[in-house]
Amino acid sequence: MDIIRNNKALMNEIERIAEVAGYLWTKGWAERNGGNISVNVTTLMSDEAKMLPALAPARELVEKVPCLGGNFFYVTGTGKRMRYVAKAPFENGSIIRIAPDGASFEIIAEQPVSPTMEIHSHLMMHNYLRSIGRNTTVVLHTHPTDLIGFSHCKPFLESSKLLTRTLWSMIPEARIVVPKGIGVVPYAIPGTLELARLTIEQLRTHDMLLWEKHGVLAVGDDIIDCFDAIDTMSKSAQIYFNARWAGFEPVGMTDEQLDALVPAFNLPDCY
Ligand code: 13P
Ligand code: ZN
Repeated sequence: MDIIRNNKALMNEIERIAEVAGYLWTKGWAERNGGNISVNVTTLMSDEAKMLPALAPARELVEKVPCLGGNFFYVTGTGKRMRYVAKAPFENGSIIRIAPDGASFEIIAEQPVSPTMEIHSHLMMHNYLRSIGRNTTVVLHTHPTDLIGFSHCKPFLESSKLLTRTLWSMIPEARIVVPKGIGVVPYAIPGTLELARLTIEQLRTHDMLLWEKHGVLAVGDDIIDCFDAIDTMSKSAQIYFNARWAGFEPVGMTDEQLDALVPAFNLPDCY
């Protein structure tokens, strides 16, 4: 579709999405169709592209997203593999247009690829962030083995604070890159409204979330930054598990060392 392919700014963003999809696969976080991505591309769409006809009947949303009325998103397709999103983002994802009242969406480009089953979580997260005045454009969901492993351990599962401070304490960068820490979202069936609602609860205070025994999500203004945030916390998780495998409990940075990062890097004082 020339109207899309000739739009340099849009294609540049699609290339960045494809780049990150490739990282998710090479990291081993994206088994089969694991993970999904949505990016608000409204500001990158030409007026002509915004008027494209729907490629499939409009789909009603179970919960309205009024703050997203008239917005456009690139969304990875359900059942699609990240390793193929990396090579062919428009065969494995589509651009959708949210209706002005936020009650439904239509697929407008390039093919009628049905969006991820986690579309409720993605759109409700974007909607919530808009409703509090944030211009966040990206929701990235993936299945990092090490971070998911933490959600199988009761003390971490029951305390976002313990999980966050343990991961932060492995390397200083963890607190610097993910200053609000990780919020643990209790288990719910993938793709459900219940999971989306539980997710919004934790999104109030975090930009990274751990879905119990499932995966992580990061929100932000830039997809590379979202990837980096997950990658940094994954690194911390690896240090923790490597120490445990070697037979010792990692001492971690002290509370004083951790808290000294707040004024040193002008970080929000969370946890
Ligand atoms: P989709 O293929 O529908 O995106 O589902 C993958 C997934 O990770 C569900 O949480
Ligand atoms: Zn998932």
